[in-house]
Amino acid sequence: MEKYKITSEVSVYQENELNEADRELIEAAKRATNQSYSPYSHFSVGAALRLKNGVVVTGSNQENASFPLGLCAERTAIFHAQHEYPDQPIAALAIAACSQGRFFSKPIPPCGACRQVMLEVEDRYKQPMRILLYATAGTHVVGSVKDILPFQFVGDSMTL
Ligand code: THU
Repeated sequence: MEKYKITSEVSVYQENELNEADRELIEAAKRATNQSYSPYSHFSVGAALRLKNGVVVTGSNQENASFPLGLCAERTAIFHAQHEYPDQPIAALAIAACSQGRFFSKPIPPCGACRQVMLEVEDRYKQPMRILLYATAGTHVVGSVKDILPFQFVGDSMTL
């Protein structure tokens, strides 16, 4: 039998330790929670991504009375960015969530479906995307979606 470990590194930054670009991206994600349509969960999620060319695209979760039809903030932002700027890799994606007007003290990790969509973006542009999970107690940052999605399934996985 063989065993191996899959490890990843997460850095936690206080606001004054972040660079200006990251601080701005987090602020954009926090602002995007105001556009969330979440009358069922009352959980407002905002996402803001920075393209390689510097443009910031935002998204928020959009719910539906038929629950599974709603879309997460991350995918709303990513699909919109890919539609508007198909040639631009995504360099960084910030996520923030609040409920009853208050941001969470713990980070809200993206759901599995969003991680898979983020993986496709990295695979498409052959470039890692930094992910910034905002929380009032500190922003958790990873260098690639692979850090939060070990054992990845990509297009190449289907090649013999
Ligand atoms: N949600 C997101 O927008 N992003 C995530 O990664 C987790 C969940 C949304 C979906 C739904 O509108 C609400 O949060 C509760 O699941």
